[in-house]
Amino acid sequence: MAKTKTAFFCQNCGAQYPKWVGQCSSCKQWNTIVEEVVQKEEKRSWKTEISPSKKASRPLKITEITNEKELRLDSKDQEFNRVLGGGIVPGSLILLGGEPGIGKSTLLLQIALKLNYKTLYVSGEESQKQIKMRADRIHPNSENCYILTETKTQNIFQQISALEPDLLVIDSIQTLHTDYIESAAGSISQIRECTAELIKFAKESNTPVILVGHITKDGTIAGPKILEHMVDTVLQFEGDRNYVYRILRSLKNRFGSTAELGIYEMQGSGLREVNNPSEVLISKNEEDLSGTAIAATVEGMRPLLIEIQALVSTAVYGTPQRSGTGFNAKRLNMLLAVLEKRAGFKLGAKDVFLNITGGISVDDPAIDLAVVAAILSSNADIPIAKGVCFAAEVGLAGEIRPVQRVDQRILEAEKLGFNKIYVSKNNKIGLKSTAIQIQLVSKIEDVVGSLF
Ligand code: TYD
Ligand code: MG
Repeated sequence: MAKTKTAFFCQNCGAQYPKWVGQCSSCKQWNTIVEEVVQKEEKRSWKTEISPSKKASRPLKITEITNEKELRLDSKDQEFNRVLGGGIVPGSLILLGGEPGIGKSTLLLQIALKLNYKTLYVSGEESQKQIKMRADRIHPNSENCYILTETKTQNIFQQISALEPDLLVIDSIQTLHTDYIESAAGSISQIRECTAELIKFAKESNTPVILVGHITKDGTIAGPKILEHMVDTVLQFEGDRNYVYRILRSLKNRFGSTAELGIYEMQGSGLREVNNPSEVLISKNEEDLSGTAIAATVEGMRPLLIEIQALVSTAVYGTPQRSGTGFNAKRLNMLLAVLEKRAGFKLGAKDVFLNITGGISVDDPAIDLAVVAAILSSNADIPIAKGVCFAAEVGLAGEIRPVQRVDQRILEAEKLGFNKIYVSKNNKIGLKSTAIQIQLVSKIEDVVGSLF
């Protein structure tokens, strides 16, 4: 009888050890090493049971390789296409990660239903009935979408060879298992082997494959980091589950830029593409409220106007509270210190709360000036005039610093009907004539003097 071969794998980073250790020496996590059975067999492919033929490739001179414009499948979803860099590349492997319940299955089912291509949606998590119920909510029936509930890769490939789909969706990679590995589904070696089989299938048949990946509690995609190395594109679906907006980002893309970003709104009938995000993120209050300021930020490549709300009140307890939703608390403390030291505002005994509306979080430093303006407006209880927005970073000396892509921000603000934007004096502005007034400032005092 063949001896069972086992090895020890770190469940966090995928490092392999010959014996058990308490701490993984590559990622420094404790108690993540688990013994798994590895039984390697020679000569196997996703097609071994079906046909053993394989196209061997030969080396080509780089000048011989023709560079035709690559064909891309239109996913019929503007936001999804944008994030992928123009559509789904045939033969590519896309990994979609995200927290449970954020809408990964909804997004992919929706795409599968809208496509004109034959799509096979393989679910290891839900029954065909459950998926049908969801499909009924999202989109009237599609003739091209096939649902399969199966977790064994060999069976999946059998069905694929009969159906020959143009797109394969796997929900999720953690539920798959292959006969060639004995450890449980979801373990590092299963994930790695199943992904390797799917890659072989994708490259040999030129069919794109989209995988759903679970994420761990610290926000990284579960399974070894190598999973991210193996696939062509890694997408992350994120958002606050208490809000309706969801953001699709690309963390890695072999066929396009990672700076693009897609925005969706979760509705009763699935995810709606949000093509003009600025309009939905700014609340339409008729009366003037103190403590709100609009920032012209850039998320990925897209300019986005967001609303920042601040509340400054006298602290009732000893230590004043400072907290920010969607904004880095350390940066908030820094801005408060700058206001105190450089502009003479006594905020030391005040509670300061900051909120970015829409439940999105922003780490663009260009929203600093809007944060400062919102805080000062709340502190003085004077509303900021309508039609004013901000795009500048605030430095430790209280200076207003330039930001990147300022022209794009100005144009977006102008498009949305703003009539004044504050930017740094040191920003090089390429725009010739604009309907919006560009107010150049160099110190916080300039802003305070001009605002209130
Ligand atoms: P789901 O796609 O199952 O999330 P994931 O696959 O990432 O775990 O999404 C589940 C949530 O989406 C669920 O809480 C209900 C909500 N939802 C809607 O609000 N509207 C809809 O049309 C659908 C299908 C789901
Ligand atoms: Mg799901």
